[in-house]
Amino acid sequence: MKDLFEVLKPGGEDWALAKTLDPDRLPAHIAIIMDGNGRWAGRRNMPRAAGHRAGVEPVRIAVETCSRLGLEALTLYAFSAENWKRPRAEVDMLWRLLRLYLHRELPEIMRNDIRFTCMGRLDALPDPVRREIEIAIDATARNRGMRLNVAINYSGRAELVDAVNAIVEDARLEGRLRDLQIDEAAITSHLYTAGLPDPDLLIRTSGEMRVSNFLLWQIAYAELYVTGTLWPDFRRVDLLHAILDYQKRDRRFGGLNLETETARAEEWVEAVQTIAR
Ligand code: FPP
Repeated sequence: MKDLFEVLKPGGEDWALAKTLDPDRLPAHIAIIMDGNGRWAGRRNMPRAAGHRAGVEPVRIAVETCSRLGLEALTLYAFSAENWKRPRAEVDMLWRLLRLYLHRELPEIMRNDIRFTCMGRLDALPDPVRREIEIAIDATARNRGMRLNVAINYSGRAELVDAVNAIVEDARLEGRLRDLQIDEAAITSHLYTAGLPDPDLLIRTSGEMRVSNFLLWQIAYAELYVTGTLWPDFRRVDLLHAILDYQKRDRRFGGLNLETETARAEEWVEAVQTIAR
């Protein structure tokens, strides 16, 4: 976390917020649904493309901040399987931006020891985009810092279908198909995110209360944070607010907060005795 202070101006708003973070309770993995580029442009009477272009800087800031905080992973939803329904020119623009981002940011990604990965059905992407992605994946493969995982042509349902098919295929190749039993561990280890912790915090910008087919399995116990801020306006302070809000949550994973409940043990004994009487 100390790496973050190297890029913060002492006394600034983000510096003050970072000071209040509990370094022992940072999320290991943050996932972000970056939404609102189109509306951001619309409010300025600009073409949607301008909104996507303005959406690149917050990507750079989020990557830098999460990496300097020492998080294990940041997963960004850049292009959903449903986004192909958009006009061809908009889709092409998104590919251009992604290639440009990878090309320009690779040196910085390397300097920060970040490992870049992609998830989704990448076969459907145009060749030049796939090539740029492969260059970044190969160049960063041995980096040991944060994992930057970008979801492209991604669908949570398709990911589950792919996982189940991969399990069946493995069993077929190993001659275990007749006795195949699928459990949660098998599905988890065949997802695109195999090896990554589940996201602790899912952030969505632009105020929409939806998960939009993102990480359906992995967000079972994620804390959700929705902000009305549109993605192009999302800055370091917004990310720090989201993490601070996360640190106030009481995560029980369906159980109880043991510290509080142990303190109440005597009340329980009394309650049970009252029922028994
Ligand atoms: C959602 O806004 C955003 C997207 C579909 C694309 C996200 C892409 C970027 C932020 C740029 C490049 C990405 C990387 C990783 C460098 P929207 O168009 O759905 O907005 P709207 O709901 O207001 O129309």
